[in-house]
Amino acid sequence: MIVPQDLVAVPPLAPLTPAAEAASAFPAGHLMLPSGRPCRADFPMLSGQLIYLDSAATALKPRSVINAVSAFYETSTGAISRAGHSVSERATTKFEAARARVAGFVGARPDQIVFTLNASDAILRVAEGLDLAPDDEVIVSAMEHHSNLLPWRQAARVVTVGIDANGMIDLDALRKAITPRTRLIAVTAASNVSGAVQPVADIAEIARAAGILLLIDAAQMAGHLPLSMAEMGCTFCTFSGHKMLGPSGIGVLAMSDEGAAILQARRHGGGTVEYVGPTHFVQKTGPEAFEMGSPNAEGAVGLGAAVDYLEGIGVNRIAAHVATLAETLRAGIAAIPAFAMPFAPGRKNTGIVTFVPRSEMNLGQMAEILSDSYQISLRHGHHCAQPFYQHVGAEPALRASLHLYNTLDDVTAFLGALSDIAVFCKP
Ligand code: ALA
Repeated sequence: MIVPQDLVAVPPLAPLTPAAEAASAFPAGHLMLPSGRPCRADFPMLSGQLIYLDSAATALKPRSVINAVSAFYETSTGAISRAGHSVSERATTKFEAARARVAGFVGARPDQIVFTLNASDAILRVAEGLDLAPDDEVIVSAMEHHSNLLPWRQAARVVTVGIDANGMIDLDALRKAITPRTRLIAVTAASNVSGAVQPVADIAEIARAAGILLLIDAAQMAGHLPLSMAEMGCTFCTFSGHKMLGPSGIGVLAMSDEGAAILQARRHGGGTVEYVGPTHFVQKTGPEAFEMGSPNAEGAVGLGAAVDYLEGIGVNRIAAHVATLAETLRAGIAAIPAFAMPFAPGRKNTGIVTFVPRSEMNLGQMAEILSDSYQISLRHGHHCAQPFYQHVGAEPALRASLHLYNTLDDVTAFLGALSDIAVFCKP
């Protein structure tokens, strides 16, 4: 029998009272919980000296997410939707409750949410399920992550539009790029290199006016700014669990009703079919048609707990905290002559600052020194977006990416470390 409290392993945080809201004005640069504790205390990875500046690659997990995953293993390990016994039933109920929480997070219905492996897998599902012809056109921007570029190259002809001086997709170029062969616009909601948040509603208007489908890659947006399918006006929205404080190996494909009506499920196996005869099969309808095999139920449950955690704090509060830190970080790096920032940050930013040494330096060594001598983790290279670097003529870079658990002390310590290593960056 399913006990109601099993469905919510970790209760959501209470909403902020006005007094708590006023008291949470980032004392010492921390984002505070409604309880008055800093949210940083919820992240076991931060119990020591670590300064984690690689959240754009993967975010750290709060204890509530870790507990939700281990509680699932401890109380509900059973196959999803496969058996009538109580353990399977409990597992299925938790899995579907997680789907409902994720649906609420993006303003969708549960039947519009497909669980995938990650955002890349979600985008691939769309690329393989739209029946694109080789001479159909898909428009992407020059800033796309490889995950929102390579699937389209495999399926159709890719047309790329450029970026304006503010780091935003050039909307005039987008309008001009549309032809009678354009089937889809596939763009990121926020760059994983610059952090610049894109004008998704304007892009949706352009797509709608031209009768073209729209996919929004929200992998860098989820958990940083509110996500609403209706406000974005998109046909498909994709994101990963691990970048929004959830587990790895779980992602989301959210579909509008129009998207759900046209997207074909192309991978079949256990769980996706109602009936299999000698030569044919009858496919299930809804999300299950896309979720072949035993799904990552513990991942979905962990993602549901991540949604609870984010919503308990308030995504807008997280955005305000991260924006304050990112401004300080950007100003601090601008004041160190040894470094340049080749990517425009946009009008809104998800807390990413990418920078290059002005002289030739081994970035791997710099990242290693920052890690070994200062306990600072950040990512160097092209950040899975080589065409973006080519577009702006930038060399590989160092990227510092922030999230809710970072503090002003982190930023100050990082800027101090950068000033120390700047002496090695000879002009
Ligand atoms: N896509 C991840 C990043 O931007 C891995 O670093």
